[in-house]
Amino acid sequence: MDGPAIGRVLVSNAEGFAPGDYVVHVLGWRDHAVLDAAGAQKVDPNLAPLTAYLGVLGVPGLTAYIGLERFAKIKEGDTVFVSGAAGAIGTQVGQIARPKGAGRVIGSAGSDEKVKLLIEEYGYDAAFNYKNGPVAEQLAKAAPDGIDVFFDNVGGEHLEAAIGALRLHARIVLCGMVSQYNDEKVVGPRNLWNLSVTRSDILAFMFSEELDLQPDFVREVGGWLAEGKLRYRETVREGLDGTLDAFLALMRGENVGKMIVKL
Ligand SMILES: NC(=O)c1ccc[n+]([C@@H]2O[C@H](COP(=O)([O-])OP(=O)(O)OC[C@H]3O[C@@H](n4cnc5c(N)ncnc54)[C@H](OP(=O)(O)O)[C@@H]3O)[C@@H](O)[C@H]2O)c1
Repeated sequence: MDGPAIGRVLVSNAEGFAPGDYVVHVLGWRDHAVLDAAGAQKVDPNLAPLTAYLGVLGVPGLTAYIGLERFAKIKEGDTVFVSGAAGAIGTQVGQIARPKGAGRVIGSAGSDEKVKLLIEEYGYDAAFNYKNGPVAEQLAKAAPDGIDVFFDNVGGEHLEAAIGALRLHARIVLCGMVSQYNDEKVVGPRNLWNLSVTRSDILAFMFSEELDLQPDFVREVGGWLAEGKLRYRETVREGLDGTLDAFLALMRGENVGKMIVKL
């Protein structure tokens, strides 16, 4: 299985890479890898903890940044709703949305503990546990005047509820659909017409096609991180043998922030 990993260079024939250097690569679930220098990006362990390059300074942080910066087109005072808000991406979306102009930020997650964290640690104004009742009802309570932006990591019931809560000229950013990856009986949103009624957009993206934003991301988000303005957590599992279980645990909601497997 591939996926982002941090490695330490043992042997190098490539200019610019020496034994002992740390690199990010995408060869994933393994303890040793042989790769071209083009597939490795050097990281500085003195600037941030190594695992940060897999989470807050890695793909999840970048994905949160791209979704907000390029697709959400946040306007001053917008109400932003985030699903999967306690995951690696969602925890960053809430925090980045605020300096980008969001007025009110609302999140949903799958446990009361996570809901508490969203409000106390990640700066969400309101949050709810989607397992405690219908998403549409809970969202209506948290955002009685509707939402301007929906950053969706989950799909399914969340997407339908958000479409039903859109204000005029709202934007839905489709980042992921974790509720549907294992579900063969998915039914699409039944209220798409509300996009016309509210003249709203649904925009889907894949971070790998938007890498031109990486320098801005490193400058802006790296700066906030260095200033201590950005909070992040990791869920750490030990050992290569535990990788499969760590992966399945994502589907069970056992992580807060980025799931890391440490070798
Ligand atoms: N577009 C892109 O470029 C891009 C890049 C990377 C990732 N993604 C996608 O973005 C999404 C978020 O990624 P991430 O790394 O932040 O996630 P993550 O840290 O892997 O978190 C996954 C979370 O999803 C929640 N979840 C699992 N099953 C669910 C269900 N049936 N309904 C609602 N929530 C459920 C769980 O939290 P709860 O306890 O809250 O249920 C779990 O902790 C994923 O769908 C991923 O595939 C997109």
